[in-house]
Amino acid sequence: MGMSDIPNLRSAYDMTSEEDIHALYREWAHSYDVGFGDAQGYQLPQAVARAYIAAGGKGPVLDVGAGTGLLGEHLTATLDVDGVDLSSVMLGVARSKQIYRDLYTGNINVQLNLPQYMGIVSAGTFTLGHVGPTAIDNLLEIAEPGGLFVLAVNAVHYVDAGFAAYFDGLGAAIAGLTQVKTRIYDDRADADHRDDIAYILTFTKAG
Ligand SMILES: C[S@@+](CC[C@H](N)C(=O)[O-])C[C@H]1O[C@@H](n2cnc3c(N)ncnc32)[C@H](O)[C@@H]1O
Repeated sequence: MGMSDIPNLRSAYDMTSEEDIHALYREWAHSYDVGFGDAQGYQLPQAVARAYIAAGGKGPVLDVGAGTGLLGEHLTATLDVDGVDLSSVMLGVARSKQIYRDLYTGNINVQLNLPQYMGIVSAGTFTLGHVGPTAIDNLLEIAEPGGLFVLAVNAVHYVDAGFAAYFDGLGAAIAGLTQVKTRIYDDRADADHRDDIAYILTFTKAG
């Protein structure tokens, strides 16, 4: 991505390294909520928040790849929510909203030095060019036994990155896995992404 390009979904899906992700989101952070979220009718964060509440999720909950806080915005009225993200620039936007309890800069692909949580939520992070299924191992380590996970996974990425085989391999480490298909965007989205799908995966860490 050149410095003069406006970041977009195509540049996001093409990421191949941590450095790429830092550079992309450093450029994107300040236009993300309006230029992307509103303009594309990005509705995945609300869907994840709704699913977490509907499943009886409690706080404190960790928002993984919290970005500018679009998911937190739908949970912080009733729950304590922390966030973790690779991009301190994205988290700077989230911090300015003053809705999160704590925000941490960190990479979920490596072991996390974070407190224990009653739940873990995520939107837009398990997607093409971003985070694969093995990061879930690191998230299971910081969840309380019985902790509730609600993770959105881009449907193409789900297949390409081998999420089904990963979950098979988890066996009894998790319970009650369900998978609900949802549209990532509404009709405002560009034609080539309007019908993009994510799976909202809900499960608990074995107690
Ligand atoms: C498309 S944004 C989603 C942000 C927010 N959850 C939302 O739905 O608007 C993806 C976020 O994942 C973060 N991210 C990507 N790889 C990561 C990693 N390995 N560890 C932590 N955060 C990561 C990026 O920095 C970015 O803020």
